[in-house]
Amino acid sequence: MKVLITGGAGYIGSHTLLEVIKAGHKAVVVDSLVNGHAEAIKRVSKLTGTDIQLAVGDIREKSFLDSVFTEFVPEAVIHFAGLKAVGESVENPLAYYDVNVSGSRVLLEVMQSHCCNKIVFSSSATVYGEPQYLPYDENHPVAPVNPYGRTKLVVEQMLADWSVAAPERSALSLRYFNPVGAHPSGLMGEDPLGRPNNLMPFIAQVAIGTRSELQIFGDDYDTRDGTGERDYLHVVDLAEAHVLSLAALENQAGHDIINIGTGRGVTVKEMIKAFEIACGHFIDTSIVARRAGDLPSFYANSERAQSRLSWTAKLGLAEMCRDTWTWQSQNPDGYKTSEF
Ligand code: NAD
Ligand code: WQD
Repeated sequence: MKVLITGGAGYIGSHTLLEVIKAGHKAVVVDSLVNGHAEAIKRVSKLTGTDIQLAVGDIREKSFLDSVFTEFVPEAVIHFAGLKAVGESVENPLAYYDVNVSGSRVLLEVMQSHCCNKIVFSSSATVYGEPQYLPYDENHPVAPVNPYGRTKLVVEQMLADWSVAAPERSALSLRYFNPVGAHPSGLMGEDPLGRPNNLMPFIAQVAIGTRSELQIFGDDYDTRDGTGERDYLHVVDLAEAHVLSLAALENQAGHDIINIGTGRGVTVKEMIKAFEIACGHFIDTSIVARRAGDLPSFYANSERAQSRLSWTAKLGLAEMCRDTWTWQSQNPDGYKTSEF
């Protein structure tokens, strides 16, 4: 299949690009590089032995997208491009509505005008908000608590409306839980700009010495050890879920929603211990106040991914930490570290 990947130079997009090509598909990437790395595409090219076209531009620019569709004629789109920092979305909500919502609308318009009828969308488990019960299944009520989460929900609804309007259209919204890890080659991984917002890249930067200590945001939650519990999943498992989604779209009409998580919660302290084993030394930490908006526990019921996609997570916490550490230690400056 010919697949256009928006945001393919980013963290999850680049890992998915690799698995999509390995599965025998042809792919082209559209990315503005606002938070992505051209070097990531070069590394996917090396790992797959293929030339990959990276079209640098913004998904909100219709004429740009139109020219890429005219040249490549994709049969399906995997749509990662967007902004994802929760705090930034509170400070600058319109940027999030513009890129995430308007950008997705422009993409659908261009898909429609080129008769491209299949799309996999990067949604987020953050659309659920506070748990009414755990684990979250796809029927759990949605009530996102920040603008970022609300933009994801609006796009899901837009996809549902778009895909029922013509019988040949199909759309899958994947609600990711907490993707972490890196490609086991050590050539690809997460390379956040500036101070990481998320736990795993922060631990990795403390482990390599870029940052002095990890602040644990609260140890008085109602969990096994008092620290926040999340459903971390390996980015390579997540990438494979996208490949399976392309196949599932062949036999699907309309819009569907699928959680992508392991179904298992891991606490902050458990993550730190696992990382210490992976890197072979202690991680300095301090306990600080809870972070505003954090929930105690957040994990998936992933039965639907199994039944609809035949997907289950194969890689565990040890592999997530091992591969993050291989990436971080081989690329202390991320993609700026020269490799080839
Ligand atoms: P990322 O920032 O690494 O990747 C997003 C990519 O989109 C970047 O390469 C960026 O340059 C590109 N981009 C942003 N705005 C663009 C625009 N207007 N036009 C073209 N390209 C643009 O993020 P990621 O972690 O790989 O996340 C990918 C997707 O998955 C995002 O939509 C995100 O909201 C979603 N998601 C991520 C997580 C997570 O924890 N990482 C969890 C749930 C959902
Ligand atoms: C995990 C745990 C923190 C950093 C966020 C977004 C969500 C989704 C994934 C996109 C929590 C604790 C963290 C640190 C810490 N993204 N922590 N010290 O908050 O579950 O989800 O990323 O859709 O929308 O909100 O992930 O990695 O930030 O935090 O103690 O320096 O680690 O309190 O318990 P979160 P996270």
